Amino acid sequence: MIKKQKPYKRLKEKVKTAKKRKISSTRWLQRQLNDPYVKQSKVEGRRSRAAYKLIQINEKFDLLRPNQVVLDLGAAPGSWSEVVNQIKGNKVIAVDKLEMDPISGVEILNLDLSSQESFDRIRKIVTEVDLVLSDMASDTTGHKSTDHIRTQELAELAADYALNFLKTGGSFCSKVFQGGTHQALLDILKKNFTTIKHYKPDASRKGSPENYVIAKGFKA
Ligand SMILES: C[S@@+](CC[C@H](N)C(=O)[O-])C[C@H]1O[C@@H](n2cnc3c(N)ncnc32)[C@H](O)[C@@H]1O
Repeated sequence: MIKKQKPYKRLKEKVKTAKKRKISSTRWLQRQLNDPYVKQSKVEGRRSRAAYKLIQINEKFDLLRPNQVVLDLGAAPGSWSEVVNQIKGNKVIAVDKLEMDPISGVEILNLDLSSQESFDRIRKIVTEVDLVLSDMASDTTGHKSTDHIRTQELAELAADYALNFLKTGGSFCSKVFQGGTHQALLDILKKNFTTIKHYKPDASRKGSPENYVIAKGFKA
């Protein structure tokens, strides 16, 4: 069972500016120190605060069940995979272009998901999965429209895996940009799933443009 999350109180620690520290680093440090999810992830030994995003998405959409085969795309450092792997009987295939530390019982593939090799390697391990998760993100450039386009491309890539690997009735959850899924992808999802919802969990930073699309009931 996954522990239900209480709403977190925002903290109020101030960071003094130091001569050699850039303003952006001071801001980052202040945000980290005041982030209740960073604190909680340390207390609970999570790999990252991202774990709480999946926990909250799951509380609302009930995606995670026992005995599922789950594809976790853009999985590093692995906090989502750990959450899914906690559930009895689940088999997780975690893929990232970055290396990640092993998780007992999780199949980790160090691959760039945009390559055909990645697709073929996953296909050798599974033919059908119950759930495709994608928290894939590219490094942000700070240039809004470039970041937007890159996130869109990754969401499209994730949807492509979902359409190729999900079994009938399966679910898909992917990071998308603020404002939701762009029209072309939304049309594909509408055609292939029974329900499509957007959700920004509390653990997703308020100032961040990130959002999630949750599609259930794959029609195969
Ligand atoms: C926000 S992190 C994921 C955090 C993860 N959900 C967790 O809970 O630990 C986004 C990840 O997407 C990965 N990523 C981005 N583009 C990718 C690609 N084309 N192929 C594989 N991984 C990719 C990045 O390497 C990064 O590790």
